[in-house]
Amino acid sequence: MAIISSKKQPPEPDGSAPDSQLPLPRAIAQAAAPESLLQPEAEPEERGKQEERLRPQRLAEYVGQKDLKEILDIAIRAAKARTETLDHLLLYGPPGLGKTTMSLILAAEMGVNCKITSAPALERPKDIVGLLVNLQPGDVLFIDEIHRLNKVSEELLYPAMEDFRVDLTIGQGSSARTRSLKLQPFTLVGATTRVGALTSPLRDRFGLIQRLRFYELDELTQIVLRTASLLDTPVTAEGATEIARRSRGTPRVANRLLKRVRDFVQVKVLGTIDQAIAAEALERFNVDPCGLDLTDRRLLTVMIEQFGGGPVGLETMAAVTGEDAQTIEEVYEPYLMQIGYLNRTARGRVATAAAWSHLGYTPPNTQLSVI
Ligand SMILES: Nc1ncnc2c1ncn2[C@@H]1O[C@H](COP(=O)(O)OP(=O)(O)OP(=O)(O)O)[C@@H](O)[C@H]1O
Ligand SMILES: [Mg+2]
Repeated sequence: MAIISSKKQPPEPDGSAPDSQLPLPRAIAQAAAPESLLQPEAEPEERGKQEERLRPQRLAEYVGQKDLKEILDIAIRAAKARTETLDHLLLYGPPGLGKTTMSLILAAEMGVNCKITSAPALERPKDIVGLLVNLQPGDVLFIDEIHRLNKVSEELLYPAMEDFRVDLTIGQGSSARTRSLKLQPFTLVGATTRVGALTSPLRDRFGLIQRLRFYELDELTQIVLRTASLLDTPVTAEGATEIARRSRGTPRVANRLLKRVRDFVQVKVLGTIDQAIAAEALERFNVDPCGLDLTDRRLLTVMIEQFGGGPVGLETMAAVTGEDAQTIEEVYEPYLMQIGYLNRTARGRVATAAAWSHLGYTPPNTQLSVI
């Protein structure tokens, strides 16, 4: 399997994040914040390999997302029966729900290679042309963060997706000529956390557009049990459920929390992970019973204490908390909305009565009329 670039941001040589380039308030906020459980990892190679080992390899191993699996299963069988390539697929949803994993599974099920890249790595036209012309028949080309493609690269993709062809301009000025290159048929899998940021010509060229949803408790429990057995870590069913409950509906978080609990058990020489051990360990890592971490709680606390619960604008939230606005919007808010702690309104964000109660505040009576 050819993997061109599977990392969104390359780690620094020592494995740390390149925060010297961050604007100052954000750099300070990151230095003060504990390791985020939500961000994709920028990890040393060894740990990256371990992550790969945890990914399900086939559709049958992929837990949850029942509707998506059914649709893809049909598409795969039909394409195979007709000996055609799969239609282009756009996957969208919050980080860590299994978009990259699903793309690798599609390639495995079709018996083809998956080439992985992400839009920021396709800055120059020759980057994307180089990728396209080297595809083998049927290959899956996975482009992460596809909403970040620049205009030139995006326009090169249109005929590639539609007619398996790239149009190149050779020469400059009056002597410029256009030449078409034929491509092998391929399947483009695009992934994005912001489907609304895609241009409509690009979106319309995908035959299948599918949303990944947050996972249910029993699905996450299954994922924790599966990962625990791959890591040779003994855990009871109740222990796995406790970890799953705090995983904010996200497999990546579930796997991370399991690893933190495993460290705790190892250092304290505790043996099998049961419910009490999982709860104690995760409290120490500041993950509360709803899966909220320090950042979630800070966001809600700021809204409640400084803005009376809202409405408050995203940029204001970002300025006051020192978090990046896009990270708040794409990483933190979807789960807070999912569990009913936050609403987005035309006038800004509002913390719901449930959020007030969860954080130990008494919701004001007016709260109901605001929501
Ligand atoms: N359905 C699933 N069943 C079991 N494990 C899963 C499933 N989905 C994801 N995982 C696990 O969660 C991890 C994160 O998944 P993945 O990298 O595919 O997420 P993603 O949606 O591509 O995230 P991002 O948007 O940050 O790129 C994987 O390493 C995999 O082990
Ligand atoms: Mg991914």
